[in-house]
Amino acid sequence: MKDSLDAVVKRVGRLGHYTKPEKIEGAIKLDSNENFALDRGFVAGVAAEAASQVDLREYPLDQLEDLYSRLAKYAHVNEKCVAAGSGSDQIIELLLSTLGGRRATVFVPTFSYFINRCELHGIKVDQVPLLHDFTLDKKAFLKSAKKSDLVYLCSPNNPTGNQLDRETVIDIIDSLEGKLFLVDEAYVDFADYSMSNDATKRNNIIVLRTLSKAFGLAGARVGYMVANEKFVRMFRSNIQSPYPISTLSLAIASGVLARAHHVRQTIRAIREDRDRVFARLSKLDGIKTFQSDANFLFIEAGRNYRAICTALRRNGIVVKMLGNIAGHRGCMRVTIGTRDMNEKFLQCLEGLL
Ligand SMILES: Cc1ncc(COP(=O)(O)O)c(C=O)c1O
Repeated sequence: MKDSLDAVVKRVGRLGHYTKPEKIEGAIKLDSNENFALDRGFVAGVAAEAASQVDLREYPLDQLEDLYSRLAKYAHVNEKCVAAGSGSDQIIELLLSTLGGRRATVFVPTFSYFINRCELHGIKVDQVPLLHDFTLDKKAFLKSAKKSDLVYLCSPNNPTGNQLDRETVIDIIDSLEGKLFLVDEAYVDFADYSMSNDATKRNNIIVLRTLSKAFGLAGARVGYMVANEKFVRMFRSNIQSPYPISTLSLAIASGVLARAHHVRQTIRAIREDRDRVFARLSKLDGIKTFQSDANFLFIEAGRNYRAICTALRRNGIVVKMLGNIAGHRGCMRVTIGTRDMNEKFLQCLEGLL
């Protein structure tokens, strides 16, 4: 033991950390990119069936294998290339603590949890700003990444919502031999392409995915990764703990994956409503809305920020308030929820602007 607890508090307390959103009873919750288009009764039904089947007195022995095969089928990859964890957060944490490395490159703004966790593990993070329209400054990114061991690409990106072109991503990977790429695809189910298949064939890409967003299972804590067979075999046996996901969550996840056709319908509905909400917001003066490939929209409200915050609060609508970020003033990230939730959000802004 190197440090006393006081020294740890002093050292780690200085680092950035994730702040959980506040729970507001009865709110229209558009702040955490969950899938409310997936009916609560549907998920509760699957959970009740799972609860009646599992024996919680036993450790989960073969349920992980069942999950791998269902995830593989959904993601169109070989099941030997899939490993799972307690949310993709936990997989990120495990990878950072075991892969090592001195330096990582990310573009910003991006998912701040990744940056915080690198800092916790003593990995220096070089942050390359995205251009004003949230596309990549490829030259600056490559220059930074050449000096790093690890490159993080959030695709689609949280909080901006856009997904870089596949050609750009492949080109970056091909230009950076010997670097390890973590491609965080937490929102890929709402986008147009995934790097999962590429990850199975190469030896330097790990794709991170989750059931927390499109699959409506944020509370079950199930995330997964796709990588080449050799790395996945070692991850499952030597890196991941033997029982990372509870038997109940495993059974629920498998139950929802068995009904993936229903989830896909809600993904289609969310994508359609994302376009409708985007079109309506684009007509409003005084805010700028950005095109998104995810289940949320990034809005720059500028001088209308405070007034919008107040109006949303008065109407019981919670969104992720980001303030001034990446050269944009008064920003927020708004989840695409059910049509009814989205309509309430739209009417609130349309009544104000
Ligand atoms: C980009 C990104 N990656 C990972 C996660 C974590 O997801 P999980 O619930 O699987 O831990 C989130 C959650 O907000 C996210 O936005």
